[in-house]
Amino acid sequence: MSIPFRLGVLGSGKGSNFVAIADAVAAGKIPAQVAIVLSDVENAGILAHARERKILAQFIPPGKFRTKLDEEAEHAVVEALRAAQVDLVVLAGFMRVLKGEFLRAFEGRIVNVHPSLLPSFPGLAAWQQALDCGVKVAGCTVHFVDAGVDSGAIIGQQTVPVLDTDTAESLHQRIHAAEHDLYPKCVAAIARGEISVVGRRVLWKKS
Ligand code: GAR
Repeated sequence: MSIPFRLGVLGSGKGSNFVAIADAVAAGKIPAQVAIVLSDVENAGILAHARERKILAQFIPPGKFRTKLDEEAEHAVVEALRAAQVDLVVLAGFMRVLKGEFLRAFEGRIVNVHPSLLPSFPGLAAWQQALDCGVKVAGCTVHFVDAGVDSGAIIGQQTVPVLDTDTAESLHQRIHAAEHDLYPKCVAAIARGEISVVGRRVLWKKS
C-alpha cells in the first residue's frame, strides 16, 4: 500500500473551503488525508470543523503583528506541519502573509485560494475590488504561494458572472461557491501528481 499524501491546512476563518476539501477527501475524490489543521485565531470555525471530523486541530498564537506571524509563531507552525509529515500546505482563508522560514521549509508545496481572477485584485476584499472596478466577470484562483502577495503561479481559475443586482455580499457568496468547487479539484490533481510547473505556467497532465 502506498503512503497517503498528507495535507496540512491553515485557516483563520469559518473554514468552508476546508470543509469542501475534507468532504472531497472523505468521498474519495482527493487521494490524500488531512493530517493537521492550524489556525492563528483561537475560536475560528475551521478548528471546530476539524475537531468534528476528528482531525488534529491546533491554535497557534500569531504573536504581535497584525498581517504576519512573528518568528516564534512561524517556527511553531513549521514544526507542527513537519511533525504531521505534511506533503502539501493548503491555505484556506489564512489571513497572514507567510515569510522566509515557512516558504523555505515548504518551497513549491504551499497552495492558496484567492477570491478573484488573479493577477487582478490581489489583497483584501477582492470581491469588493471587483465590484468597485466594474468588471462583468469575477471568480477565484488557486495558486502556488511565493514570497509576494497572491503572486505565485496559477494552478486553476473559475469564473462567475457579476450581476447588476449584486451587492458585495452576494458576489462574495457566488465566488465562495466557486472556490468550493475549484479548490478540491486542484488539490486532487496535485495529490495525484498530475501537475507540473514550467516557469510561471502550471500544466495539468490530465483534466
Ligand atoms: C475565502 O473566500 C478565501 O478565498 C479568502 O478567505 C475566504 C475564506 O473562507 N482568502 C483570502 O482572501 C486570502 N487572500 P473560508 O474560511 O470559509 O474557507
